[in-house]
Amino acid sequence: MSQSKLITMDEFTIQETRKFPQATGDLSAILRDIGLAGKIINKQVRKAGLVDILGKHGATNVQGEEQMKLDIFANETLINILKNCTECAGIASEENDNHLSYEDTFSANSKYVVLFDPLDGSSNIDVNAPIGTIFAIYRRVSELGKPCTEADFLQPGNKLMAAGYVIYGSSTMMVYATRLGVNGFTLEPSIGEFCLSHPNMKCPENGKIYSLNQGNSVKFDDGMLNYLTYCMESNKEEGRPYSQRYIGSMVADMHRTLIKGGIFIYPADKSSPKGKLRLQYECNPMAFLIEAAGGKAVCGTSNILDIIPTELHQRTPIFIGSKNMVNKVMEFVKVKEVVG
Ligand code: AHG
Ligand code: MN
Ligand code: MN
Repeated sequence: MSQSKLITMDEFTIQETRKFPQATGDLSAILRDIGLAGKIINKQVRKAGLVDILGKHGATNVQGEEQMKLDIFANETLINILKNCTECAGIASEENDNHLSYEDTFSANSKYVVLFDPLDGSSNIDVNAPIGTIFAIYRRVSELGKPCTEADFLQPGNKLMAAGYVIYGSSTMMVYATRLGVNGFTLEPSIGEFCLSHPNMKCPENGKIYSLNQGNSVKFDDGMLNYLTYCMESNKEEGRPYSQRYIGSMVADMHRTLIKGGIFIYPADKSSPKGKLRLQYECNPMAFLIEAAGGKAVCGTSNILDIIPTELHQRTPIFIGSKNMVNKVMEFVKVKEVVG
C-alpha cells in the first residue's frame, strides 16, 4: 500500500459520520480515544518479553516507577484516556467491581458510556500469543447533566452504538462495528496510525473450524457432546470433519472466526452453569460485531444481544460465528432442552 492511498481510522470515521447530517461526531471522538489507548497498550505489550530485563511486574524500575501487570496497565490507560475524552460520561471494566462515573461538568453532559475488557487472553502473554482489548459503547439512558448511573451499563447488546476490539497479534489491528458495518484498521508503526486495511468485513455464512476448550468436554451435557461428535464426523459434502482451533484469547479466536468463518463456543458446563465469559465486556461487543458482519451469536436458544443484563459482571454461555454453523449448533442445544 503506498502512503498516498492510506486512509487513517480518524479520516474514515469522520467520512462515515458525514453520511448522517445529524451526527455530532461524539462517537468518532470516543473511537479515536480508544484507538489512542490501543496504541499505548500496544507499546507496552510489545515490551512484554523484556520484563526480565526491564524489571518484573511489581518491581521498581530504574526510574523509580512501579512495573504494572499488563492488564492493570491497560485498564488504567483506558480509564485515564476516556476520562479526558469529553464525550464519555463513565466506564465499566472487567477489572473493576463497580462502574466509574467521571465526576466533572463535561463528563456529566456526555452522551456515551464505555465498557471494556482491557486485556483479553492475559494468560497468553507469557507465551507470546495474541491478546486484545474489547470495548462496547452505549448511549446513556440516565439524565444528562448528572453523573452516569449503573443503568447506563446494564443495557442489552441490541442498544449498542459501536463495539470492537484491538488485537495485539503479529500486527496490531483495531476492528470496530457500527450499524453501518465492520471495518478493520492495521497499525502502521512508522506513522503510528491505524489505517483502513479490511473494509466492510463479512463473516462467511459457513465455516470449517470449531473453536472451544475441548478439554472441558467431560463436564459438557449431551447436547454439546453430540455436537462435538457431529463436528468430528466425516461428511465430505459438508466439509466435515471440521478443524479444531483454539488459542484461548477470545479476541484472537474471534478475529479468525470473523475472517475465515467458523464457530467459537464457550458453553455452560457442570462446574460453570452460566458459562465463563462476561456478557458485558466480552460477549455483547463480539455479538454486536459479528452480527454487523452477517454472523450470529446466541447463548443457546436466544440471541446474546437480547439478554437484559441484571449485574455488571454476569456471565453467559456463547455460540458465535458463521450464521449457518450457529443455527446448526442450536439444533443440538434445543434437542437437549426438549429432552431435559
Ligand atoms: P481474560 O484474559 O480477559 O480473563 O479472558 C480470558 C477468556 C477468553 O479470552 C478466552 O476465550 C477464555 O477466557 C479462555 O478460557 P479457558 O482457558 O477456560 O479455555
Ligand atoms: Mn477476557
Ligand atoms: Mn481481561
